[in-house]
Amino acid sequence: MDVAMYALQFLAILLVGVIGVALLVAVVLGVVDRTQTSDAIRRNYPVLGRFRGLFSMLGEFFRQYFFAMDREELPFNRAQREWVKRSSEGHGSMVAFGSTRNTAIVGTPLFVNAAFPPVDDQFASSGPMVIGPGARVPYTATSFFNISGMSYGAISRPAVRALSRGAKRAGLWMNTGEGGLSDYHLEGGCDIVFQIGTAKYGVRDAAGNLDEDKLRAVAAHTTVRLFEIKLSQGAKPGKGGILPADKVTPEIARVRGIPVGRDSISPNRHVEVDAWSDLLDMIDRVREVTGKPTGIKMCVGSEQGVAGLFDAIRDRGEDSAPDFITLDGGEGGTGAAPMPLIDLVGMSIREALPMVANLRNASGLRGRVPLVASGKLVNPGDVAWALATGADFVTNARGFMFSLGCIQALKCNRNTCPTGITTHNPRFQAGLVVEDKELRVAAYAQEIIKEVETIAHSVGVAEPRLMRRDHVRVVQPDGRTILMSDLWPASDAASRHT
Ligand SMILES: Cc1cc2nc3c(=O)[nH]c(=O)nc-3n(C[C@H](O)[C@H](O)[C@H](O)COP(=O)(O)O)c2cc1C
Repeated sequence: MDVAMYALQFLAILLVGVIGVALLVAVVLGVVDRTQTSDAIRRNYPVLGRFRGLFSMLGEFFRQYFFAMDREELPFNRAQREWVKRSSEGHGSMVAFGSTRNTAIVGTPLFVNAAFPPVDDQFASSGPMVIGPGARVPYTATSFFNISGMSYGAISRPAVRALSRGAKRAGLWMNTGEGGLSDYHLEGGCDIVFQIGTAKYGVRDAAGNLDEDKLRAVAAHTTVRLFEIKLSQGAKPGKGGILPADKVTPEIARVRGIPVGRDSISPNRHVEVDAWSDLLDMIDRVREVTGKPTGIKMCVGSEQGVAGLFDAIRDRGEDSAPDFITLDGGEGGTGAAPMPLIDLVGMSIREALPMVANLRNASGLRGRVPLVASGKLVNPGDVAWALATGADFVTNARGFMFSLGCIQALKCNRNTCPTGITTHNPRFQAGLVVEDKELRVAAYAQEIIKEVETIAHSVGVAEPRLMRRDHVRVVQPDGRTILMSDLWPASDAASRHT
């Protein structure tokens, strides 16, 4: 009895104590809030005003689980992410009952089914395609779907390793991004595209100029098949790469050839290139030094902005052309970019691709300069659209990040990525098990290829690269659809994409 009384008394005292401390804390916070001068809400609503910030922060985490509809988040909605997740886990893409996609949205591409699609024994695969037939070592690319540039630095060591091994399994190429070539890129033995960014990481001298000996050393790796000179990327056209100091570890600094622990900012352009003719000179130089096909990557702002490239090629001759053009849409992703550029600068791939394909075809360069398209082309319908529109290849970055386990936490620039993909913190990297994720990378790519083939068969052709603009209808503001071949007529009669 006595013991029970003591326990009760103790609990009562504890409760009073807790309430007293809470009140004291509230009074102190209230005084702090009322007297501070930087936050109007906390000044006018002491203590209570603090919950606003807390709930905004929690909302960022909980919206995607409880409140956002399947098709409404950006940059990628749950339906898009789940497709990648299911396919990378090998679950295929079967769904039931009916589509949850709103196909009335203006601009939605709908494929034109054939009355008599091919049957199984008429199916084919998109065969290998030669890039840079005039280079000393041309490259035969086996897959139309490949991994876009993500630098070692922007993404982590285990992420690079899993991508390299997954690419090898699925027969893809992997682009290094602008951060140089590391042992982790080479580990899987996949084909590699070495990107020369504006800071020339990995192939620069102390002053930041192109170092031909280093270029030759990179080209000496047999799995380095292509070189890509980056003019711009869709997420930040007109701005160089940005790697925050937190992410410049000693190893990354060594691979890039820069100081440790300092923000790594690339110039806005290659300093030696301020006209298309300079670019052709640089392509020529890299192709000559490396012996390997050399292309460019850019995001386009307007037709006039890019037409000069084709004029310059015409003036100099077809041999001077880039061996491929990677066209990145303004909707492309990045590890870090200023918001106005990520939101508002650069043409969408949906407009840029048909436009540049027409320019290329009209210049008679269709067979000579393959187009590689990127920019949110993460699901089979997106990839099929790009091939039908005029792309010869599609590359993708964030889809592969989803296959690595990305949850779209939007923290790529903070070194705190919870899935270990864009952080160099070993605690978070421990979550990314290379041997598991390499399988998912390969499975995602294989499922994309399989489903793009399914669309191709449905529109009545044997393999994806046979799709044309008249296999796609585009939803208009009045609700009707028109053929993409009417919306974007090909610019020459000989064009493959009529
Ligand atoms: C984490 C991350 C790092 C990237 N790093 C580079 C880079 O080093 N060089 C480059 O040209 N593009 C880079 N990109 C852009 C992609 O290569 C690609 O152009 C763009 O993300 C295409 O959009 P997608 O992610 O929807 O496929 C990066 C993108 C991401 C998400």
